[in-house]
This record gives sequence, C-alpha cells and structure tokens, in this order.
Amino acid sequence: MEHPKNLVIVIFGASGDLTSRKLIPAIFSLRSQNLMPEKYSIVGVGRTKLTTDDFRSKMSEAIVSFSEEKVTDSDLILSFVKDLHYHSMDSAEEPAYAELNSVLQNICKSCSIGGNYIFYLATPPSMYEVIAINLARAGLMNQESGIRRLIIEKPFGYDLHSGRKLNKTLHELISEEQIFRIDHYLGKETVQNLLVTRFANGMFEPLWNRNYIHRVEITSAESIGVEDRGGYYDSSGALRDMVQNHLLQMVGLTAMEPPSSLDPDAIRNEVLKVFQSLQPIKEEDVPNQVIRGQYTGSLIRGECVTGYRYEKGVSVDSRTETYVAIKFFINNWRWGGVPFYIRTGKRLPTRVTEIVVHFKQTPHHLFQREAGKLPANQLIIRIQPDEGMLLKFDMKEPGAGFNIKNVNMDFHYKDLANIRVPSAYERLLHDVMLGDSTLFSRDDEVETAWKFLEPIQRAWANNPEIKVFGYPAGTWGPRNANELIEGEGLTWRYPCKNLADDELYCEL
Ligand code: BG6
Repeated sequence: MEHPKNLVIVIFGASGDLTSRKLIPAIFSLRSQNLMPEKYSIVGVGRTKLTTDDFRSKMSEAIVSFSEEKVTDSDLILSFVKDLHYHSMDSAEEPAYAELNSVLQNICKSCSIGGNYIFYLATPPSMYEVIAINLARAGLMNQESGIRRLIIEKPFGYDLHSGRKLNKTLHELISEEQIFRIDHYLGKETVQNLLVTRFANGMFEPLWNRNYIHRVEITSAESIGVEDRGGYYDSSGALRDMVQNHLLQMVGLTAMEPPSSLDPDAIRNEVLKVFQSLQPIKEEDVPNQVIRGQYTGSLIRGECVTGYRYEKGVSVDSRTETYVAIKFFINNWRWGGVPFYIRTGKRLPTRVTEIVVHFKQTPHHLFQREAGKLPANQLIIRIQPDEGMLLKFDMKEPGAGFNIKNVNMDFHYKDLANIRVPSAYERLLHDVMLGDSTLFSRDDEVETAWKFLEPIQRAWANNPEIKVFGYPAGTWGPRNANELIEGEGLTWRYPCKNLADDELYCEL
C-alpha cells in the first residue's frame, strides 16, 4: 500500500459534528492501520474558543463514542491526540489567515513535517467560497511550497446557477486537480464494488443493456427523520440532499460504459457521459415523472413520531420534500427505452440502499399455465445494510408437474471472515492524501447533474399546483409513487433489513 507524504490536515469547522463523528474517528482508524503519513499533524480551526488541550480531550471522547470498532486502549488514544492542535479564528476574516499561516509554519517546523497542507472545509457550504478566497489570498493554496488540496462536502451549490458559480470561484483560485468534492457514497465499499461486479465478471456485461433489462430501480431509504438538521434540511430537501449527488452517482456507476482504465478521469468521463445522456424531463412532465412527499406524524412501533412540519427548525407550512421518486430514461444505445426509477426518503420503514436490476421476462412463457405469472429475474446489489448481492431466479419445485418457485442465490460481505469494511471517510481521506481523485465528483459531473434536476426545481418553484403528498412516518412514501412504475401489476421492491428476506414478512 502506497504511503502518503508527510502533511498537515487543517479542518475548518473543527468544533462541529462532522469532525467529531466522522473525520477524527476515520483518521484514528487510518493511523491504527498504519495508513497515515510517517509524520503528520491535524489542526482544528473554528470560531469556538478552545485550547489545544480542550480539543484533544473532546476528540478523545469522540473516538470512544463514534469509532465503528469499540476503542478501549486509552494509551493509543493519548498517543493519537498528541498530533492534534486547535486554532481559534473567524474564517470569514481575511487578516486571520496570516496568523493561521504562521501557526502552520510553526507546527511544520517543530514536528519536521515539511510544507504539505490539506484543507478540509467541514463548515456550512455558505463558507466555502470565502474560506477558499482567503486561503488563496494568504498564499496558502500556492503549490510551489508543497501539496495544497481543498476538500469540500456536498451540497456543491443549491442549483445549476450556484453550482456553476462555486466552481467558477474555485477555478479562479486553484486548479481542478486541487479540489476534492466528497460524495461519501463513492467512499462506500459496496458502491465501488459496482465497478468490480460489472467489469471483473464476464457474465454480466452481455446482459447489461436494453435487450435484456426491463427496468432499473435504485432506492436509498432512511428510517430516521431530519433529527437536529431541520434548519439545513428545510432549505435543501431530498432532491438536493440525496438525488443530486448520491443517487445520481449510483446511476452513473450502474449505467456507465466500461472505462478504458482505472485512471480517475477515465472513470469520471464515463459517469459524465451517462449524466449527459439523461433525457431531460420537461417542466410540464414533472408531475407525471417526479413524485414528492413529506412525512406526517404517526405511530411507529408504539412510539409517536413527529411530522416533518413540527420538527425543530422546520417551517410549519413547509413544502420541502422529505421523499422523492423519479422516473427517467438514458438516451444512449445501451439504455434507450429502459426506465430508471430512483427514490429516496426519510422516515421510511427501514434504512436500506440498493440497486435492483429487473431483467425481462422470457419471450415464451412455457411454464406459465402451471405456475401462473412468473416473476422475472432480478439482480439486487445491496449497498447497505447486509451488504452483498442477491440473484432471484426460478426453479422447479420437486415433484409432479412443473411448479415453479422463485428462489434466491445470495452473497453477503459479512460471510467473508476477518474482512473489515472500512468507513467511507477513511477511504476518501486516504485517497486525498495520496492525491487520487477517482472517488470524488468532478466539476463537470456536478454541473451536469444540476442541469438534469433544473426543470424539476423550476417546476416545483413555479407551479404551486404540483402536489406535495403526505405519507405517514414509517411507511414507504406516497402511494402515488407506485403509479410511476410502468407495467401492469409492477411495483417498487419493498426491501427488508436482511438482503435475502422475502418482502412481506421481514425484519425492518
Ligand atoms: C447525507 C445526507 O449526505 O447522507 C443525509 O445529507 C443522509 O441527509 C445521509 O442522512 C445518508 O448517508 P448514509 O451513509 O447513512 O446512507
């Protein structure tokens, strides 16, 4: 495994949730696996007044509370936090960056690290531009004195216009190669495994097209509500929060052509081509192709659950969608005419993300007389939980006649003994340190994804007649979403927590 060069990681927004829940536990885990550089420092930056000692003890607690594996070795934590530092400053103020510069130089000198910096913006997105501008003005993005990389989290803008503006501002300061846009879904092992499933196995490729595939369905369901993020979520909604990034990236990897190599741009060029081939949804077709919903209060397993409009930070007459389902097509030779259905929502019955490839029925129903209407084959790629793959196909039931039974063939990652699935943030942070941008969204991908969603955003903004359907918390979203699926008697798959469980009776 390649070792990253010595460097300093500067985290803006270091007193926030992302730093303690994800970033520090991920860096701790990388260090435990000996994947951090030989010499490095983490500098937390925030407006909150903290001393380095306060920060170290806060991060020690975070490691215990939020690491995926239970951490009990306090000596290990102590030796880890000694490389953490804290610097309090207002990152909107340009003069504060001269001081930051000298703090970083001092740390580099005293720890003999050299001058490589990675800046992680774990701040509200409204701060991205101002921090990038201030860093550049202070000379901190200048690569002549070492590696200089900038990591930003989605949302990359709010719509096509703001997404373009953000890219333009960043490009005026730094080059695209220095920008790492995190879509944490791309850091998930199972999302990367899509590439391997498709391109390391000869048997899928011949079937992976309009001749054999009837439809593709992608679901990313969450059982939680908006929790304490009501303020952010109410100005975002499911379309911006999940579809623009995570769901469309999964569409890209499912539908892309084989890349010419594993080069970051070779892969991202193919994803971009998929985005460019998305058939634009006309504004007037939005009510028929896009269903939005919002959860209402209900009783889930005996517990009262608050409706979205009564969550903290949410307006009581909010029309923000907590659920969205979209039907669309990809206009190219591989996919022409194959409907893609994607849906995501909060407060659905269970947390599950999966891709379901529905194959076409056999052309001649030889056994139909005995067996009734037979379900077609399905390949289910489970992203989370119970990560794995499931193939559903028909077999003869033993005995007289030809009774057909739909059976499962399943693979579960957990059956691979002793294999730990690293967290998305571990993988992505390690890649940034190595300068590998394969699993990061590129400027043109982001803009093309916004472009596809623009008519939907416009229709919702301009036409108050387009309904926001209520759905009781704990259900599978608005009933109208079923009407999107073309074909008599066809519905969405209703997945369970366990990949191979049958749909009606299962653990949620
Ligand atoms: C984030 C969204 O990007 O992804 C959240 O902002 C969502 O609203 C989360 O809950 C889901 O991520 P995961 O990894 O739990 O599926």
